[in-house]
Amino acid sequence: MTDQLIAPSAEHHGAAASVSWWRDAVIYQIYPRSFADSDGDGIGDLPGIRSRLPYLRELGVDAVWLSPFYASPQADAGYDVADYRTVDPMFGTLADARALIGDAHGLGLRVIVDLVPNHSSDQHEWFRRALTEGPGSPLRARYHFRPGQGADGELPPNDWQSIFGGPAWTRTTDPDGTPGDWYLHLFAPQQPDFNWDHPAVADEFRTILRFWLDLGVDGFRIDVAHGLVKAAGLPDVGAKTEWHLLDVGVSPCFDRDGVHDIYRSWRTILDEYPGERIAVAEAWAPTLDRVANYVRPDELHQAFNFSYLGTAWDAAAQRRVINESLTAMRQVGAPATWTLSNHDVVRHTTRLLQSDEGDVAGRKPAEVDPVAGLRRARAATLLLLALPGSAYLYQGEELGLPEVIDLPAEVRQDPAFHRATGQDGYRDGCRVPIPWEGDRAPYGFGPPDGGSWLPQPQNWANLSVAAQQGDPASTLELYRAALALRKADPALGAADNLRWCPAPEGLLAFERGAALRCTVNMTNEPIRVRRPGEALLTSGPIELSDDEVEIPPDTTVWWSV
Ligand code: GLC
Repeated sequence: MTDQLIAPSAEHHGAAASVSWWRDAVIYQIYPRSFADSDGDGIGDLPGIRSRLPYLRELGVDAVWLSPFYASPQADAGYDVADYRTVDPMFGTLADARALIGDAHGLGLRVIVDLVPNHSSDQHEWFRRALTEGPGSPLRARYHFRPGQGADGELPPNDWQSIFGGPAWTRTTDPDGTPGDWYLHLFAPQQPDFNWDHPAVADEFRTILRFWLDLGVDGFRIDVAHGLVKAAGLPDVGAKTEWHLLDVGVSPCFDRDGVHDIYRSWRTILDEYPGERIAVAEAWAPTLDRVANYVRPDELHQAFNFSYLGTAWDAAAQRRVINESLTAMRQVGAPATWTLSNHDVVRHTTRLLQSDEGDVAGRKPAEVDPVAGLRRARAATLLLLALPGSAYLYQGEELGLPEVIDLPAEVRQDPAFHRATGQDGYRDGCRVPIPWEGDRAPYGFGPPDGGSWLPQPQNWANLSVAAQQGDPASTLELYRAALALRKADPALGAADNLRWCPAPEGLLAFERGAALRCTVNMTNEPIRVRRPGEALLTSGPIELSDDEVEIPPDTTVWWSV
């Protein structure tokens, strides 16, 4: 079988450029600490991931995106990087990373790594020296150090709030023990923001990009891509307390036009490498048109579609966001992307039912009926995989994992949880290690006595890969079947060819190419329509007669027409 594969290493790094592999790619997010633990310390690692790559090949995805595995004190699960060119010993070694990339390429899988350019760890050498060398240190200019306000500088330099809650500034102590300047951190205090106006910062990241490109990675996911550039003078926000929620032109630190110069310079580096190395932006911007700015032809390749992720399970709203996404991306010639889950949001098996209760962003998880949640999640996935463009899946969603909502406070690690007024704080529940096999924790995540850094629920045996494999009714087999059909049908994914069909209220119906129709019942009642053709794949049971079909609530059907 292996010799039938077109390994990215051969086509991608060879003379012939591949044809925009990323435009319709299905990219699977691996959260390294929760995927597979090879050494039994309860934390997933790179050798663990390597050992499970054949599973991903069989699942049918095109690429993996790995959340950060670099040297880090883990104040924000690795999104606080102390050394951008080193693998944290908790995850393995650079040799493991190289081997993982090689194995993945051998299996026809591409590898995207996370790049965290908005901030470093407070343990990064530049920041440590900036502190120990004191106020005169030239390294301070690479971050945002400022004197405080008030008679003794006891007040923060401006009124910005951290995304994780509390002020976005922390006061330093000078080497002589007296209170000193403050530094800016849009996230946790252990994540000082870089000053991107400093040429050394820009130079450093260009060499970091090359380091990983030379190692063979196929692309980067750019963390907080909208945050790097701040308004000159770091002005107060004033009364707009919800400023981080982004209104056009309001935020002094998000979605500033200056970020685009950075991405244009990165694009020239990506383009220097053979094949198509890509970058995907985690860019929170106020409108889809502003998001599209990140994927203009000379900038990054893709941007996550958080508008779609945050849209309620409602036919009119879904149709609107799908149209707006396609229109915005078409204007710049970029493919749309679609995501339902990632490591920052409530798993969609839980969240999509919650949206009925009004919490669309799903940041605060609530208990939902697991059967109804799974039914809706499966329907949502078949919708997602029928849309034009690129799809991002998050590890464990192919198993239908629900959000774990009852983690005790003492095991929770999300820094936002511990800064109680933060906007998030609930991100541990989607990060619980995934079950591979067996009837009790850690369900093959690691050796039987290895445990797991977050406890797994006692009732996950039926959700394991081994339990679902080969069962046609399972969610795992639904994903496999959908991905196989998507791969076999060039009209799916690839071109921007979605055509809406007339349909009763609450039913989404669209065609892709000449031969495939997707229908989604987003209401709470069954809907009976004329049967469009042969049912290729359904997210749940349907009732067919010769010329009619009854589609139950929360059910998606792919038809061959
Ligand atoms: C991004 C990451 C998130 C992290 C934050 C700060 O939003 O996805 O997990 O906490 O950036 O780096």
